[in-house]
Amino acid sequence: VDWLQRWQENKIGWHKNEINARLIKFLSQLNLNVGGTIFVPLCGKSLDMLYLAEQGFKVVGVEISKKAIIDFFTENNIPYQQQNDNFISENISIINKSFFELTATDLSGVKAVYDRASLVALDKPTRQTYAQHLATITQQCPILLLALDYDQDKLAGPPFAVSPDEVGELFSDYQITQLESFNDIANETKFISSGLKAINKDSYYLSQALLASNS
Ligand SMILES: C[S@@+](CC[C@H](N)C(=O)[O-])C[C@H]1O[C@@H](n2cnc3c(N)ncnc32)[C@H](O)[C@@H]1O
Repeated sequence: VDWLQRWQENKIGWHKNEINARLIKFLSQLNLNVGGTIFVPLCGKSLDMLYLAEQGFKVVGVEISKKAIIDFFTENNIPYQQQNDNFISENISIINKSFFELTATDLSGVKAVYDRASLVALDKPTRQTYAQHLATITQQCPILLLALDYDQDKLAGPPFAVSPDEVGELFSDYQITQLESFNDIANETKFISSGLKAINKDSYYLSQALLASNS
């Protein structure tokens, strides 16, 4: 996928004009203190960042498209400053670079991660790299992961199907709690047209696995 071209041509079918219902439902699972910082990888211009800020959290996003970032701040009337590749506002800052070039230093202070349409935006080999890099740069802080699963033979991604088994493999160093799974096919016209009968929306809470102790 050429993401920059998608943004230039405004082919951004993933973008929603409402806050994600599953974020609202499951945010508290992250147990984030007010004032705590939450990382939103591959953030696009998601309004979910506004919701997170409204709940009293600081938000750090990373997004490869500068247009997406500028659109986010201007469309929501949020004053911002640009410092090199960092777009900064009072509660939300977005780093304009590739996720894969982020370091732990870029994310110092991050206490939790919110992933919606980020992992599932990537092809299978890249998902492996993504999961490993995410664990490294966030020092395995808790993740609210919204994924989806469907018969990949019937439709090419993105969004790609990511099964519960794959989540288990990708995040094998975490303790994984599946919070919810439901078939949302009634709301997914594109998937119905492809002959699919199911698209499961799966929400997970990933947390650092308890380390085995020898003592
Ligand atoms: C499917 S969209 C989801 C955006 C957002 N999470 C949402 O829910 O609206 C994926 C986004 O990731 C961005 N992206 C793709 N690869 C990236 C990378 N390596 N680093 C940073 N952003 C990337 C794209 O420009 C696009 O905005």
